[in-house]
Amino acid sequence: MKHTPYYLNKPDNILPKGLTNSVFRSSDPLAYHQSLKNYTVTPLLKLNELAKYFGVKKIFVKDESYRFGLNAFKGLGASFAISKILEKDPDIETFCSATDGNHGRAVAWSAKLFGKKSRIFVPKDTTRARILAIENEGAVVEKVDADYDETCEFAKEMSRKNGWQLVQDTASAHYAEIPAYIMAGYFTHFMELEDSIHTLPKPKIDIVFLQAGVGSWPAAAAWYYLNRYGVNRPKIVLVEPIEAAGILASFKKGKRTKPEGNFKTIMAGLNCGIPSLTAWDILKDSTDAAMAIEDSFTKQAIRELYYPTGDDKRIISGESGAGGLAGFIALMTDPRFRNLKEALNITAESRVLFYSTEGDTDPENFKNIIRKKK
Ligand SMILES: Cc1ncc(COP(=O)(O)O)c(C=O)c1O
Repeated sequence: MKHTPYYLNKPDNILPKGLTNSVFRSSDPLAYHQSLKNYTVTPLLKLNELAKYFGVKKIFVKDESYRFGLNAFKGLGASFAISKILEKDPDIETFCSATDGNHGRAVAWSAKLFGKKSRIFVPKDTTRARILAIENEGAVVEKVDADYDETCEFAKEMSRKNGWQLVQDTASAHYAEIPAYIMAGYFTHFMELEDSIHTLPKPKIDIVFLQAGVGSWPAAAAWYYLNRYGVNRPKIVLVEPIEAAGILASFKKGKRTKPEGNFKTIMAGLNCGIPSLTAWDILKDSTDAAMAIEDSFTKQAIRELYYPTGDDKRIISGESGAGGLAGFIALMTDPRFRNLKEALNITAESRVLFYSTEGDTDPENFKNIIRKKK
């Protein structure tokens, strides 16, 4: 990208009104997830050596590779949304979605949980391993010769024609309720931290780095933090692949817009087009910065987590899962981000949180990355 790869925001810290707020406030995703058979709280790890290495006080990583045996956090959103849809219409037979991998697997798993069928559409660059993982959850998967946004349109059209229920994690003008339930489902992992670092009246972290695709997950986090802490919320930095940075592009234009990149990135889960409408409405007023990074940083982040030093525990974090740490590494080491680092006031006293949102969801690619030691 020829231009500055970041945007320093001046959020007014006001939650948007309307449907999303009412869905969020009336939802109890934690109780729902606790009722599922294989629910467990995913681990929160403290990486003291990594913190020392980067000159900050604490680094925490919540490891979502343990979520429901799905190797990623996305089952939280899809299962909660499908439970809500079936409350209203128990006779739905087939659920449908477009996906870059993890969300589709989560929809297939959730449909199976309720004894329902699923049809999943994936964009042209989706790897065989990701398709197989979705098929293994019982879905019929079809590769579309199109990019992510076009595949979403195709899934919408196919759902309409075939009477399938679309479960998409990105909101548009006439499709907001289901994405809102998906986002509400994500609250569970933020709430799981209320016994440890998401304490009241203040959190025990100063800054959190959130990797963004369509923005629904980071927007759920931003809404949660602002709702729980108001202006005492931790600072929030969004991280995107430089070739698919729709949120950064939207900040720069001052309105929701498509990214300009070529969509070539190994961060498959973040390789998205225009941000979700609802997500953008939340993110623009509740986050401090957006940054775009090259794949080399996520490879470095994966290796940092896989080859820890001292007593730090090993974490298996995939290309999108390690995106938050990748953004932090870029911020701390790449001169292009020097001004942003200063503005965010990252010091020896900073306590930093990352969510490793997936494990090795593409095992071959993961193996290739860790073949090279740090
Ligand atoms: C592993 C992983 N992390 C983060 C995200 C970002 O979530 P969202 O697309 O809601 O911004 C995704 C999305 O697919 C993902 O797969």
